[in-house]
Amino acid sequence: MIVLGIETSCDETAAALVDDRRRVLADIVLSQLAEHRPFGGVVPEISARAHVETLDGVIARALDAAKLGFEDVAGIAAAAGPGLIGGLLVGVTAAKAIAAARSLPFIAVNHLEAHALTARLTDGVDFPYLLLLVSGGHCQLLIVEGVGSYRRLGTTIDDAVGEAFDKSAKLLGLGYPGGPEIERAAAGGDPARFALPRPMKGRPNCDFSFAGLKTAVRHAVAGVAQPTPSDIADLAASFQAAVGDVLADRTERAVAAFKERHPEGETLVIAGGVAANQTLRARLGAVAAVNGMRFVAPPLRLCTDNGAMVAWAGLERLRLGRTDGLDFAPRPRWPLDARAGAARG
Ligand code: KG4
Ligand code: ZN
Repeated sequence: MIVLGIETSCDETAAALVDDRRRVLADIVLSQLAEHRPFGGVVPEISARAHVETLDGVIARALDAAKLGFEDVAGIAAAAGPGLIGGLLVGVTAAKAIAAARSLPFIAVNHLEAHALTARLTDGVDFPYLLLLVSGGHCQLLIVEGVGSYRRLGTTIDDAVGEAFDKSAKLLGLGYPGGPEIERAAAGGDPARFALPRPMKGRPNCDFSFAGLKTAVRHAVAGVAQPTPSDIADLAASFQAAVGDVLADRTERAVAAFKERHPEGETLVIAGGVAANQTLRARLGAVAAVNGMRFVAPPLRLCTDNGAMVAWAGLERLRLGRTDGLDFAPRPRWPLDARAGAARG
């Protein structure tokens, strides 16, 4: 069984083909970074137009790379939310058009579910597992109990962690996106030089907050007259260390809640763009080790947005017969855990 997956929810135009033996047959990601960089963030109109102009070619390249045609495909999946509505409409409309023309099932995939299930594609992880989902728009701790079955333990009350990286990078005069830039700068820095806050650390719940940390970075930068590259490196390293402490503390709490509910559960998974960060991966790997858990972090290119994760989530749904009608409307907001409501993150 082969599924085509389309991702257009933010600033990557991506298409991929995966099969039910967990093989990625093709995975094409076209980044719009260069187009957004002058604005220091994703501009929705630019993004939607770029998706329209490039998606057909990206799908054709994926089929070519896999040496497959639509006749080999069992279903067409598209990220249908949450995300920027312009981009979502482009991907969902393309997927529906192919599905209609080829009489194939259409699967509307939740972008967060695609991140959440990636560890099953890459490592064959069994349910249930504990997931730390950290991206540009989200920062959540979830118990993944099955396809479509998620229990949210905590979320951010203000900024997402990737957003904190992006905004702090801007304050440090680093480029966009901020995550990789801060990681690079931090490599040569002293993480102990600036005493930045650890918001929410020690709190009894599993929620996050990053707005105060960003403000602290602003004050720290202002406190250094004419920052040198070495000052910037120390600031970046101090910021990254603060984020690492917070993520480790919150995840530690979540491990306890997870084990209470699922004593048999043994895996901690990290997903989303921020999971590309090596220092943070190491911190969370240590949390898993201390708690006797297996730690799974997908390869970097499957952490940031891609089509393979959408194709895989679509395949998991298709296997269970959970397909969608061609009247399915994209959802700019679409929480994974309906019980947790539409709170931020
Ligand atoms: O999952 P993703 O590609 O898109 C969203 O769904 O948001 O995540 C993008 C986010 C950006 O905020 C980016 O700065 C962050 O992931 N990011 C990183 C790293 N690489 C990407 N953050 C920290 N360290 C990195 N190496
Ligand atoms: Zn994402």
